[in-house]
Amino acid sequence: MVNSLSIVILAAGKGSRMKSPKAKVLHEICGREMLYYSIKAAREITDDVIVVVAHQKDAVIAAMEKHFTDLTFITQDADNFPGTGGAMMGVKPKYDNVLVLNGDMPLIERSSIEKFLANPADIVMSVIPLDNPSGYGRVVIENNSVLRIVEEKDASADEKAINTVNAGVYAFKHHVLQTYIPRLSNANAQGEYYLTDVIEMARNDGLSISPLYVEEVEFKGVNSKNDLAGAEMIMMDRIRRFWMDAGVIMQLPETIYIEEGVKFEGECIVENGARLCGNTLIANSHIKAHSIIEDSTVRNSDVGPLAHLRPLSVLEGTHIGNFVEVKKSTLTGVKAGHLSYLGDATIDTGSNIGAGTITCNYDGVKKYQTIIGKNVFVGSDTQLVAPVEIADNVMIAAGTTVTAGKYESDILILSRTPIRKVAGFFTKFFGKGK
Ligand code: UD1
Ligand code: CA
Repeated sequence: MVNSLSIVILAAGKGSRMKSPKAKVLHEICGREMLYYSIKAAREITDDVIVVVAHQKDAVIAAMEKHFTDLTFITQDADNFPGTGGAMMGVKPKYDNVLVLNGDMPLIERSSIEKFLANPADIVMSVIPLDNPSGYGRVVIENNSVLRIVEEKDASADEKAINTVNAGVYAFKHHVLQTYIPRLSNANAQGEYYLTDVIEMARNDGLSISPLYVEEVEFKGVNSKNDLAGAEMIMMDRIRRFWMDAGVIMQLPETIYIEEGVKFEGECIVENGARLCGNTLIANSHIKAHSIIEDSTVRNSDVGPLAHLRPLSVLEGTHIGNFVEVKKSTLTGVKAGHLSYLGDATIDTGSNIGAGTITCNYDGVKKYQTIIGKNVFVGSDTQLVAPVEIADNVMIAAGTTVTAGKYESDILILSRTPIRKVAGFFTKFFGKGK
């Protein structure tokens, strides 16, 4: 922790270029809101993280409070003081060094933030040379000294040709902000108070301003849904590399989707096309091709190919085969090899679930539990009408509809319509020509 640093994250803007009813900073990357990532990086460095909100502020605050405690939220008066400079007006940092981050930069990491702190200038600002600078503010630099930042909408043709852009991260001494933020004006193309105008004012007063060259891959602003997809690819790559470094085997990793909340333990194999979401833990398990796992725990098990574990499934020592869907169920030492739906179920060691088995867990109003004991052999195409409880050591014949109730140990459960044979029927129906 660098306890002499406050970090301000600007998250009050609408993000109109996203063309969405949802606030820009709440759009998700790898299963978490993009604002989560910059706050996470900030929290690794300091205890004073200030998030400026306005647009959809209740939703933004609620989303971040799910992940973090002790954040300071400040509301911008965005109607009267719009713009990134307006966002800074109510900010009261605890420390003398203040780092300002845009909330739409999810790819930033702790190590990059720290580079700003090593520099003693009054203002350190991030710059990136770009082949295509469009969309960013241009940085006018002479003799390695920053003169000013001009926003694209205010830039002359000559200024637009500058390809060094403002990445949107700045380290200020608190007194610099106290001096210049109140002096900002909104006399510009967007009628906004630009934080970036502080640079020129400070420069004119002889303050030291140091440009810090940074990598686009970490400082990329997300302004559109194209940018969102691009940032997600970069983040996903980092997540996969992190887990491969930690010992996970991935086949065709670029086809595997893994969210931020997913964790692995021990030696795991993940085959191509798998999608692992939410608060999922995979331990010593093999996830086969094109399986989807959401908010579930999988230990010492194999899943798929083409299986679907929906939220709150817990597998231990279990085999789940293709086209099996499991929801909110705990399976311990179970085999369910093919084509089943197991919802709201608890199934114990040694039990075998035949192909086509379905827990009928929902009557249109409520959900009900299916409890299956040890060593139960569930024949193919069985329907278990919940609530149903089956004791240990039971055999259920193929095709049985197990109606709701309790079934004792050491029995066969069988419901079958007797076979009818109608002689000559085929010929009668289709005629002799067939
Ligand atoms: C800003 C910079 C630009 C820089 C770019 C880098 C200004 C004036 N321009 O432009 O020089 O190249 O970032 O990505 O700062 N926000 C508020 N309140 C507002 C407006 C915005 O909190 O009234 C927040 C937004 O939620 C966002 C961040 O500030 O997280 C940046 O806003 P955005 O509109 O994306 O700024 P850019 O036009 O990209
Ligand atoms: Ca931006």
